[in-house]
Amino acid sequence: MNAGSGGAQCVASGAARAPAGVGIGLRHAHYGEFLAATPAVDWVEVHSENYFGEGGYDLYVLETVRRDLPVSLHGVGLGLGSAAPLDTAHLARFKRLCESIEPAVVSEHLCWGATRDGALHDLLPMPLSEASLDHLCARVAQMQDVLRRPVLVENVSAYVRFREDSLGETEFLAGLARRTGCGVLLDVNNLYVNQCNHGEDALAAMRALPPAVVGEIHLAGHRVTSAAVVDDHGSRVAPAVWSLYEAALQRFGAVPTLIEWDTEIPSLGVLFDEAHQARERVATLAGGGEHAEAR
Ligand SMILES: [Fe+2]
Repeated sequence: MNAGSGGAQCVASGAARAPAGVGIGLRHAHYGEFLAATPAVDWVEVHSENYFGEGGYDLYVLETVRRDLPVSLHGVGLGLGSAAPLDTAHLARFKRLCESIEPAVVSEHLCWGATRDGALHDLLPMPLSEASLDHLCARVAQMQDVLRRPVLVENVSAYVRFREDSLGETEFLAGLARRTGCGVLLDVNNLYVNQCNHGEDALAAMRALPPAVVGEIHLAGHRVTSAAVVDDHGSRVAPAVWSLYEAALQRFGAVPTLIEWDTEIPSLGVLFDEAHQARERVATLAGGGEHAEAR
């Protein structure tokens, strides 16, 4: 591999943060290109559960890429908010991967998805109530205690809301960050999807978050259907989401940003182009922000 961007660095300002700059997801379709030469990206993010096995090709690739690029471990299967107890075996595997990869940042979702009989493999929305916040605080504290590091918690695309909701999602996340010391992974596309499907105000949602708690931003594509806008991560970032990203940069500064693309995986060139578009906006809009260290 060629020399890359060097070792992982977690910028220490407020909450845990992804590495500075713009990253892309490391996906199986691009393993060969990553092994042949380190791509010109600032960092990569992977879904942690894909690397929980002991040995194997996936872990070999991740360990090889990690020699040249910072890595963000993004959990998709813990089901933090589930009523069932957290799966301690899952947490132990997460911890082992952290010890092996030494990620710059670790994240999970504001969701539930596990029952006593197993994982449902979906990011299901939480009721946004004070009781639910108490529950999440305990779960995030447990995760952070086991991993011995602060984590980021991501807002999700929700296809239902609950009658008992008394908090907005980002208001909920701000409280979670204040009480546990975790940070927030702000998915701007998810804010847009919820704006379309529930009439929520994405800009107002951003204003509910203190800038110092936002440690990473996600950008992704979505699919518009006759029934709903679906967060499928299978296309370029939509113009309306780029506009919201610009507002996010103006509020939060140069927050490390990931281009998420999980279905209909395109060529690396397309991901580079999306990352370039994000970098251009960071350079133009976030120079004087509170988090202005992105390159
Ligand atoms: Fe996301």
